[in-house]
Amino acid sequence: MKRIGESARTLSRRDFLKVGGTGLAAAALLGVAGCGGGGEQQAGGVTELVFSASPDDTGSAKKLVDKFNEQNKGKYKVTFRPGNADTGQRFDQLRTQLQAGGENLDVILGDVIWTAQLAENGWISDLSNRFTEDMRGDYLPGSVEAITYEGKTYGMPWFTDTGLLYYRKDLLEESGFSGPPKTWDELKQMTEKVLQDSEIKFGYIFQGANYEGGVCNGLEFIWTHGGEALDPQDSNKVLIGSPEAVAGLETYRSMVASGVSPKAVTTYKEDESAGAFLNGDAVFMRNWPYVYAILSDPAESKIRPEQVGVSELPSADGEPGNGTVGDQPLYISASSKNQDAAWEFITFLTASEQQKLRAVEGSYLPTLISLYDDAEVRAKVPVVALAKDALKNTRPRPVSPYYSDMSLVMGKQFNAALTGDSTPQEAARTLQRDLEDFIKQGQEA
Ligand code: GLC
Repeated sequence: MKRIGESARTLSRRDFLKVGGTGLAAAALLGVAGCGGGGEQQAGGVTELVFSASPDDTGSAKKLVDKFNEQNKGKYKVTFRPGNADTGQRFDQLRTQLQAGGENLDVILGDVIWTAQLAENGWISDLSNRFTEDMRGDYLPGSVEAITYEGKTYGMPWFTDTGLLYYRKDLLEESGFSGPPKTWDELKQMTEKVLQDSEIKFGYIFQGANYEGGVCNGLEFIWTHGGEALDPQDSNKVLIGSPEAVAGLETYRSMVASGVSPKAVTTYKEDESAGAFLNGDAVFMRNWPYVYAILSDPAESKIRPEQVGVSELPSADGEPGNGTVGDQPLYISASSKNQDAAWEFITFLTASEQQKLRAVEGSYLPTLISLYDDAEVRAKVPVVALAKDALKNTRPRPVSPYYSDMSLVMGKQFNAALTGDSTPQEAARTLQRDLEDFIKQGQEA
C-alpha cells in the first residue's frame, strides 16, 4: 500500500504542506489557488462574521456569541458554526475550505496541533502586533507557545486542555481504597477488586479509536513509561521505536487484553467514553476537563459530582502522569476581510469575564493565569485547581508542519496495537520508520 506522503515526493515543500494527507483529494477537486472571498458580508451596515468552532456540549460558546451579538447590535453579527467533534475531521473540512480560498471564514477555533501547518501555509493571520508581548505575559506560557510558530504569534489562547483521570470515589471507598491509583498496575488491581465488589460493568475507559484522541491516549501511555515520539531537544530525531515507548504500548494493549477495559474502547472517542462514565458504567475514565461540567447536569449524568474524583493520570513508576497538551486557540483566517472585527470578537471571548463563564459553566480551563486564583472559579470548578498541578506535567504532541500526516499514522498504529492487529513492537517499529520518512521528505522537499 502506498504510504501517506509518498505522492508528495516531487512537490515543493509548500505544496507538500498544502496537499499533505487527505488534503490531496481536496486540492485536486478545488484547486489550491486562493479564489478570494473571506467571511465578510455587509448587511445594512452590520458586519457579519463566521465563527468556525468545535461543537460545545456545555452551551457556553453559543451563549457568549449571543452575548457579543447583543452588545454589538447593529454593528456586528457573529454566526456560530460548530464543525465536527473529531478534531482531525474538522481540520480536513477546514483545510478544504482554506485551500479553496477560505471563503466564509473569519474566526477559527483551532487546536494546538494545527498552528504550525496553518501558519506555514499562510492561512491564518500573524497577530504578533495585536496580541502584544505585554499581553502575552498574562497567559499560561504553554498556551502562548501553542500559538507561536517560528517566532510569530498566530492566534490568541482561549482554553487549555489536558488528559485527566476521572474515578468513582464512592466505589473505590467501598472497596477499601483511599485514593486514586498512582500507577497503571494499581489501576488494574483496583479495577479487579471493584468489579468483584460491585455491579459496575467496566474498569478503565478512554479514547482508543483510530483518530486524534487515540493519538493523545497512546502518547500518554508512551510518556508515562518514560518514552517519547520525537526527541524534545531535536525534533528531527524519532524515538518512538525505543524500549520505553514499546513498554507504554504494551501496557496500553494490556488494558484491553486483561479485560480491565472493554473491547469497545478501541472505537471510543470522547463522547462515547463520557457517555459510558456518566451512565455509571465505568470505574475509571480518561478524558478532558469539559466532562466535569456535564457531571453536574442531572439530565446528562446518572452519577453525581460527589461520587467522582479527578486526578492526574497514573504512570509506570508512580510519578504524576503526563496528560497531552490540548489547547484550543482562536485564529483569524488570513483571507477574512474583517480582520479588525474578528480581532474585536476574539478580544471579547478571551477577556477574563468570558473565560470565567466558560470555566464555571463549561469547566474549560482558562488560559489567563489570574483565573486560577479566582475564589469563585476555585470553589465552583474544583477541576480547575487540580488542573493547575496537572498542567505542570503535560506534554505537547510533536510540533511540526507535517503533524496531520504524522497523526494519521500514529492513530492507525496505536489503534492496531490496542486491538491486537499489531504487536506493540511492530506498531512502534512501523512508526519509527514512518515518522523518519516524513521528516526526511520534509527536509528534501
Ligand atoms: C481535545 C483537545 C485537542 C485534541 C482533541 C483530541 O479537544 O483539546 O487538543 O486534539 O481533544 O480528540
